[in-house]
Amino acid sequence: MPAGKYILAINGSPREAEGVTDLVTRKFLEGARVAGAETETVYLSGLKMADCLGCFECWFKTPGTCRHKDDVPGVQEKMRRADVLVYATPLYICTMSALMKRFLDRIIPMAEPYQCYENGVCSHPTREGEHRGRMVLISVAGFPGLRNFDALRFTFERIAEVGGDQLSGAILFPASPLLMMQPSPAAEQLESVVQAGREILDGPISAETAAGYSKPYAGDEAYIAMVNQMFERLVAATAKSPNRG
Ligand SMILES: Cc1cc2nc3c(=O)[nH]c(=O)nc-3n(C[C@H](O)[C@H](O)[C@H](O)COP(=O)(O)O)c2cc1C
Repeated sequence: MPAGKYILAINGSPREAEGVTDLVTRKFLEGARVAGAETETVYLSGLKMADCLGCFECWFKTPGTCRHKDDVPGVQEKMRRADVLVYATPLYICTMSALMKRFLDRIIPMAEPYQCYENGVCSHPTREGEHRGRMVLISVAGFPGLRNFDALRFTFERIAEVGGDQLSGAILFPASPLLMMQPSPAAEQLESVVQAGREILDGPISAETAAGYSKPYAGDEAYIAMVNQMFERLVAATAKSPNRG
């Protein structure tokens, strides 16, 4: 692996370092550091980040520069340096969190307005001087089963494609409350995430490692029975709470 590599994780969970999204991301970055990379996580919820206005000033009036003067250009500066970009988002309503979507809308100044069409795929050329590193998606979800992530995975495959790239790995953990348990029933899968972090600077995550972190760690029905019991206890405790109402 070449020295001096930098991996930037962009975390779109409002729960920041307390969330399961970050737990999985930390494992990935741990592996990358073992392989010698410098790593950094940006938590979007802590940023001043306005919504894209769709004005296209960043394409036609001030090419490459958005009219909003907030924290987003600082993150773009880090993206330019990154050899690998990790988009880490919880699954919210079958897709990425609103924070992550707001951020991605704001990186449109990094692309040129022109459209190119090659092999049946339409994309925007990346603006000169901009560099988008290899892309990895990390996500977690409350429902069991990898099928929940289909729309999210497809979205990020398309985002990579529009940037003239390929998604180098999708690390997806359903049944997220299980990841907070000690000992974790997903300990083996999380070790494969560390391995994925070790591999990423040399190329896409290997099929063997991806199979390791994608291995089921709970039966769907047993998991659903367990979380429903847990939720019943939480709802009952709230009903009894003297502070309620
Ligand atoms: C607004 C909202 C929407 C959610 N939508 C889904 C969903 O569509 N499918 C799913 O499996 N889990 C869904 N969840 C559960 C989260 O994906 C899960 O709690 C996850 O662990 C959150 O990540 P975090 O711990 O990093 O915050 C949703 C949670 C919230 C708060």
